[in-house]
Amino acid sequence: MGRLTSCSLTLLLLLASLIQGRMVNGEDGRPSCSRCDLNLSCNCSHGGFTQVPMVTDQALILDLSFNNITLVTQDDLMGYSRLRVLNLHGNRIAVIHTSAFDALWSLEELDLSDNQLKTLSYKWFKKLGVLQQLNLLNNPYSHLSSNSSFHGLVRLRRLMFGGPALKELRRGDLLGVTELDELTVHANNLARYDSGTLGDIWPLGHITLSLQGPFLTNVTLAAAVLADISYPETLITLEDIHLIGNQSVQPFRESAKKRIRQISFRNLSVSDESIVDFLVVTDGVPLSLISIKDAQLTGEGRWEKANRTDHKSIDEFFLQNTVILDAFKFTAFLQLGFLLNYPRKLSIINCGVFVMPCKTSRMLVNLQYLDLSSNLLTDLTIAESLCHGQETLKQLRVLNISGNPLKSFSTISRMVAKLPKLTHLDISRTGYNLMPSTCSWPVTLKYLNISRAKLTTITDCLPQSLEVLDLSYNDLKDISLSLPLLRELYLSGNKFQVLPNGQQFPNLQTLTMQFNTLNVFGLQDLQSYKRLESLQAGYNKFICTCDFVHFLQFELKEGGVVKLTDSKDSYACDSPFQLKGGAVSEVRLSIVVCHQVLFVSVCCGVALFFGLLLCILLWRLHAFWYIKMTWAWLKAKRSSHKQRKDTMDSEALLSFDAFVSYSEKDASWVENFLVPELEEPSEGSSRSTCSYQPLSLCLHKRDFLPGHAIVDNIISAIEHSRHTIFVLSENFVQSDWCRYELDFSHFWLFDAGGDAAILILLEPLSKDDVPKRFCKLRKLMSSTTYLEWPQEEDRRPEFWRSLRKALKRDDD
Ligand SMILES: *[C@@H]1O[C@H](CO)[C@@H](O)[C@H](O)[C@H]1NC(C)=O
Ligand SMILES: *[C@@H]1O[C@H](CO)[C@@H](O)[C@H](O)[C@H]1NC(C)=O
Ligand SMILES: *[C@@H]1O[C@H](CO)[C@@H](O)[C@H](O)[C@H]1NC(C)=O
Ligand SMILES: *[C@@H]1O[C@H](CO)[C@@H](O)[C@H](O)[C@H]1NC(C)=O
Ligand SMILES: *[C@@H]1O[C@H](CO)[C@@H](O)[C@H](O)[C@H]1NC(C)=O
Ligand SMILES: *[C@@H]1O[C@H](CO)[C@@H](O)[C@H](O)[C@H]1NC(C)=O
Ligand SMILES: *[C@@H]1O[C@H](CO)[C@@H](O)[C@H](O)[C@H]1NC(C)=O
Ligand SMILES: *[C@@H]1O[C@H](CO)[C@@H](O)[C@H](O)[C@H]1NC(C)=O
Ligand SMILES: *[C@@H]1O[C@H](CO)[C@@H](O)[C@H](O)[C@H]1NC(C)=O
Ligand SMILES: *[C@@H]1O[C@H](CO)[C@@H](O)[C@H](O)[C@H]1NC(C)=O
Repeated sequence: MGRLTSCSLTLLLLLASLIQGRMVNGEDGRPSCSRCDLNLSCNCSHGGFTQVPMVTDQALILDLSFNNITLVTQDDLMGYSRLRVLNLHGNRIAVIHTSAFDALWSLEELDLSDNQLKTLSYKWFKKLGVLQQLNLLNNPYSHLSSNSSFHGLVRLRRLMFGGPALKELRRGDLLGVTELDELTVHANNLARYDSGTLGDIWPLGHITLSLQGPFLTNVTLAAAVLADISYPETLITLEDIHLIGNQSVQPFRESAKKRIRQISFRNLSVSDESIVDFLVVTDGVPLSLISIKDAQLTGEGRWEKANRTDHKSIDEFFLQNTVILDAFKFTAFLQLGFLLNYPRKLSIINCGVFVMPCKTSRMLVNLQYLDLSSNLLTDLTIAESLCHGQETLKQLRVLNISGNPLKSFSTISRMVAKLPKLTHLDISRTGYNLMPSTCSWPVTLKYLNISRAKLTTITDCLPQSLEVLDLSYNDLKDISLSLPLLRELYLSGNKFQVLPNGQQFPNLQTLTMQFNTLNVFGLQDLQSYKRLESLQAGYNKFICTCDFVHFLQFELKEGGVVKLTDSKDSYACDSPFQLKGGAVSEVRLSIVVCHQVLFVSVCCGVALFFGLLLCILLWRLHAFWYIKMTWAWLKAKRSSHKQRKDTMDSEALLSFDAFVSYSEKDASWVENFLVPELEEPSEGSSRSTCSYQPLSLCLHKRDFLPGHAIVDNIISAIEHSRHTIFVLSENFVQSDWCRYELDFSHFWLFDAGGDAAILILLEPLSKDDVPKRFCKLRKLMSSTTYLEWPQEEDRRPEFWRSLRKALKRDDD
């Protein structure tokens, strides 16, 4: 028992480690990680590893981030000569062997950020000739390697280093790094900087600097850094900066001297005075972009003290997530004509703006692009901002007021109607729910985004000039207007049940219909669009009918008329129940389901064919005759029982001596020979010597009751006759009529129990001449002696005698 438990425990542990993607390797105790995908990307992130695990040596990407690795030894990364990306972010690596990365000839990206490296060694990177990106951020080293760490990295394009512990940057630290696209330096606590350290890197596309400490405590140092990295082509991003007073903005003089064009701030805290000082410092500099994200503005917007400065080249202001501490005292740029006359683009996103006074709008004479998305504008204040529909913002082409608490659709249409050049209007994420039946718009309007509003109907309000219309994520069920110029239509996230008719949009090229309630769509729907090229219709409530499944599988595979540009997994069946959730591309429907009519027709056809075959077979085997016979026999049996009861076995019943059964073709014989001989016996009629008592015969021609069924007549004739004479001949055998008689008599004979049947053979007929199915006749022929009609006259008296003898009554 104990063994069993320990055994299952081991198994459990093995399983657990397998699930985590870990396995202990027997040889040297190194763990291994098997979480590699088909692209040879091994994601061993969050695996709890304390050493570098083993993966396939074919790996191209190895993600070891967020583990507990403390050490990278000489052998840990041996053999990974194909590895392109190595991510060791977020471990506790303190020691890396000097030749740990030597085998990684193909390494392009190395991430060592957020570790415990106290020193960097130039030897680590000496073999990484193709390294393009190196991240050394947030390690506790206070300086880079005493020798150049990056000497051999000729291909390096992106470099990130620094952290809270970085204290000094010495001339030569970045020796060898000469061409970079991006440089990120976290140097919030930098205390020593040798001028020129960063100066040799050129051209630099984008530099991000965190220089909180220097800007606060040693502006000389900050100035020295800025002097080294400022170039007209370089976008400078300064992070974590607190600008107060005249002193803290002085470093920008260096940038101003270099005539920088773009500057961007992130996590900035700034006062009115510092802004004024900054504007003064950058007076006359050809700055075209000023971007501020995540900033805190203290002050009232009183920047007009800088009104003598020249900022004619300002093209774009970008403000995002900026908190204005004294928002209600804010003067809203009323005196800032010297700044606001110039820009063509202004973005104030998520800054709590509730109004932009008409006066301010009037200043923005060059503005082409205005983005006030995610603010607090209302119908009332947007009217003010757009000067109540009077002429303003004459150059405006793009207006984005997405994400504001706006409600009246007619207001916005009236307000923008006078913007003579407006082409793009983004009023998405608003509270518009009602669309009036008529609206006015600028004739130039081409792009309209009303997604994520609350619209329930679309009216003719929308302008005919539209080329792009986004109505996604509303409450729409249909769209009835036609837009002749429309190229792109977005209808995802509504309640459409069918595709809109393509004839309404003769120019449409792109259509999105995801997350609606479409049940099916087909070739005809798509063909109604003349120019549609791309359609996204996944995530709908598809009913997987055969037509639809075949159509869609063809479209997805062959590309059909229109390209379905969303992933094929997004097309899933909603019904029938057994297919629910299955991807349409995987569904296999049986022929029975798909070609029901054909299937039923074929089945019926086959059944009919076999039925016919059976009928022919039965006919050939005379089964019908047998059935008819059996039926008649049963009927006869019943009626005979009844009659017999009724008549109490009365002999009076027997009114004939014999019933004569014969074929019509043998009638002459019966009439000419049999009847005269038996019914009117005379000396003349035959050469018999003595006279006989006449016998009464029953002939169907003569004695059958008209109006009764033949079968009944036959039955009654047989029953009322003491004997039955069968006149057998070829003709008899071929006549159905006679067969009945034979059969009834047969059962009667058995019932009556006598030798009531008398067979007369008119012509020589052997048993074998009788068809097999007349088994009764054959039986009768073999059991009963029969009389043969002699051809020679002189033997006939003998024949008649025998016949009379056979017919003789018991009481005679
Ligand atoms: C592999 O790479 C291809 C192309 O880059 C990509 O489409 C596919 O999704 C990747 N497969 C996996 C499992 O990541
Ligand atoms: C590895 O997985 C984590 C989530 O566990 C993910 O964040 C990371 O991007 C993945 N890495 C790669 C290279 O795909
Ligand atoms: C890493 O190890 C430390 C202590 O050894 C432990 O507290 C921590 O949870 C481990 N982290 C992970 C991700 O395994
Ligand atoms: C600095 O690096 C060069 C080659 O990169 C080497 O020759 C020299 O010895 C190194 N100096 C020190 C002090 O490590
Ligand atoms: C400011 O930085 C410069 C350049 O690194 C240095 O020489 C100077 O001593 C620093 N001043 C203070 C007060 O730390
Ligand atoms: C923003 O900068 C301040 C210092 O000015 C710093 O304390 C804070 O951590 C920074 N915040 C972020 C999110 O970087
Ligand atoms: C700011 O400082 C600079 C030099 O340090 C000086 O020339 C300028 O007058 C000062 N500006 C104000 C507004 O104090
Ligand atoms: C600049 O602003 C001052 C007030 O701060 C004002 O007196 C002066 O007329 C303004 N100059 C220009 C050119 O607007
Ligand atoms: C308007 O702003 C939103 C959110 O900031 C953005 O997603 C959208 O693309 C912008 N629209 C235009 C036309 O630039
Ligand atoms: C419309 O606006 C939404 C939300 O702002 C955005 O996600 C979407 O991309 C925009 N549509 C188009 C066609 O630009």
